[in-house]
Amino acid sequence: MLPGDGIGPEVVGEVRRVMDWFDRRRAVSFDVTEGLLGGCSHDAHGTPLTDETLEQAQNADAVLLGAVGGPKWESLPFDEQPERGLLRLRKELDLFANLRPAMVFDALAEASTLKTEVVRGLDILILRELTGGIYFGEPRGIETLPDGTRRAVNTQVYTTAEIVRVGRVAFELARKRQNRVCSVEKANVMESGVLWRQEMGKLHDEEYADVELSHMYADNCAMQLVRDPKQFDVIVTDNLFGDVLSDCAAMLTGSLGMLPSASLGAVDESGRRKAIYEPVHGSAPDIAGKGMANPLATILSFAMMLRYSFDLADDAALIERAVDDLLSAGYRTADIMQPGAERTTTSGMGEAVVAGLEKLAG
Ligand code: IPM
Ligand code: MG
Repeated sequence: MLPGDGIGPEVVGEVRRVMDWFDRRRAVSFDVTEGLLGGCSHDAHGTPLTDETLEQAQNADAVLLGAVGGPKWESLPFDEQPERGLLRLRKELDLFANLRPAMVFDALAEASTLKTEVVRGLDILILRELTGGIYFGEPRGIETLPDGTRRAVNTQVYTTAEIVRVGRVAFELARKRQNRVCSVEKANVMESGVLWRQEMGKLHDEEYADVELSHMYADNCAMQLVRDPKQFDVIVTDNLFGDVLSDCAAMLTGSLGMLPSASLGAVDESGRRKAIYEPVHGSAPDIAGKGMANPLATILSFAMMLRYSFDLADDAALIERAVDDLLSAGYRTADIMQPGAERTTTSGMGEAVVAGLEKLAG
């Protein structure tokens, strides 16, 4: 567990509570170690990610992350910023497949800024390529030109192998859902987009012809996401477009505080894959330590961990049902507060999840 900064430790703390319940009631116990990531690691060790923590993460079956960053560390040199720790962790663990589901819980359909009928029942999955593209492409940097002005460069680059491995994950996921994949790029402007489209098409024709594949330009996809999000099932896209489109999709659901994510690596010979689970929301330093944060995104990330890392799909579904139930019963943290609902705290929400699990388990 890497609780991180801001509200990270609070929301991860509620997962501890849920884990304790599994320990007591389901005979599933977790061997947990904690480490520092982000600003807190910089405070303690002068770097957002130490080699020791990286090694711990590499040796774990799964990593649960809170959130990193905050104003306290904003003026640090670029390479020492909390976010660099997170990016290095993703890269070193080679977690190329980032699953960002955006689903609307029925009880929260009215919390969206979009019309209720546009989002009710929404269940889409954005699959973001996470270790390539412009986030890591070389050359990169800022240089000073002879006339004293400056020039900044970043490079968008993708290889066949990088596209195909994330494409496979998209098609496999779609087969377990509505069997539809929409591949998103800007093939009208970027060569990397041309290659992306061609490789996705080829992979589809050769190995996944049973899945419906469509292609869309990223700008159109942004528009379609707010116009009619339910047209999508799985969206697969590159690192940068995925970053932008997943924030957009997150907001369809009414609260960033509700959305989990999983970042997965390749399956190794023993059938295992490295994985990090984290809420989509940030460290929200403005509400840190106040007991106001919504822990559900992190608890739902733990549910994804049970499903994807430990093959405990029934237990994952149990948590998701407990969350659904408590929302229907009117429990709300500040971020999803609605008139007539019952306002509760971070720990109140964690306790409500445990109470719900207890009830469901009989
Ligand atoms: C995300 C975040 C990160 C990203 C930042 C914090 C580096 O926005 O996970 O979406 O850009 O990948
Ligand atoms: Mg982002």
